[in-house]
Amino acid sequence: MLHRLNPNSPIGVFDSGLGGLTVVKELLAVLPDENIVYFGDTARVPYGTKSRETIIRYSREIVGVLLKYKVKMVVVACNTASSLALDVLKKECPVPVVGVIDPGAKKAALSTKSKKVGIIATSSTIKSGQYARRLKVFEPRVRVMSQPCPLFVPLVEEGWLANDITRRVAHEYLDELKKAGVDTLILGCTHYPLLKRTIASVMGPGVMLIDSAREVALEVKHILRIQDILRAESSHTRHLYLVSDEPDIFKYRAVRFLGTSVKNVRQYSL
Ligand code: DGL
Repeated sequence: MLHRLNPNSPIGVFDSGLGGLTVVKELLAVLPDENIVYFGDTARVPYGTKSRETIIRYSREIVGVLLKYKVKMVVVACNTASSLALDVLKKECPVPVVGVIDPGAKKAALSTKSKKVGIIATSSTIKSGQYARRLKVFEPRVRVMSQPCPLFVPLVEEGWLANDITRRVAHEYLDELKKAGVDTLILGCTHYPLLKRTIASVMGPGVMLIDSAREVALEVKHILRIQDILRAESSHTRHLYLVSDEPDIFKYRAVRFLGTSVKNVRQYSL
C-alpha cells in the first residue's frame, strides 16, 4: 500500500519507553512546526535484553500503529530497535524510516583523533555489532571498544542521575575504556544523555561524548526537505504520546527527558 505523504501529517517516533523523548526534545527544537505522534512501548520495555526476532516483531507492530496515524515518516528513536530492526523496517515501510545509529557513528568518526572510539549501549545493541560496523564504514582506521551498561537504564528511570551509586556503577563500566585511551565515546542508548554529567566526570575532559539526538533531528529535517514534506510555519502543533501501559508513570517521568511536561498521553494496547 502506498502511503500518501502530506506535509501536515505527523512525524512518527517510537522507542521502547521513555528514552526516545531525548530525540523528541531535539525534534521540537529543530522542527518546531511539526506534528508528532510518539509511541513508547512501556508495557514491554526493556528492549535492550531481548532477541532480534522479538525486537523486529515489536517494531513492526508499532510502525503499524504509527501508519494508522498517517505519519509521513518514522524515527526509530531507540538504539536497540535501530540496531536490530532498521533494515527490515526500511524495506517494509511505505514512508521514510530513520534510525539513530548512523548519525551517531558518523559524528564519532569525524570527532576521533586517536581513532580509538568507545561505545556504550544496551547488551542487545552491543551484541548486534551494528555501531562498530557503521563506524568502520565512516572511518576504516578506527579501533572500537564496546561496553554494555545494562544498569544505566534502570538508574535513569529511577532518576538517579549523579548520586554515589550511579558514579560507582559508571566507574565499573567505564574505567577500562578510559584506560584504553578512547578519545570519543558514543552514548549508544537513548537514556544515556541524562547521565552525561556523571559519564563526563568519569571519562575526563579529553573525551568527547557523542549523543546522536541532535544529528537525528537534523537528518529528519533534511529528509523532509528533500521529499518536499516540511510542514509550513504554524502557530498550532499537535503532539500525541501513545504508551502501551498506563500513562501516569510515563507522564511523571517524561519531564526528566523532555524538560517540559507532556499533556496528550493516551494508552494504546497492542
Ligand atoms: N531505548 C533503549 C535503547 O536506546 C533503551 C531501553 C531499553 O532497553 O529498552 O537502546
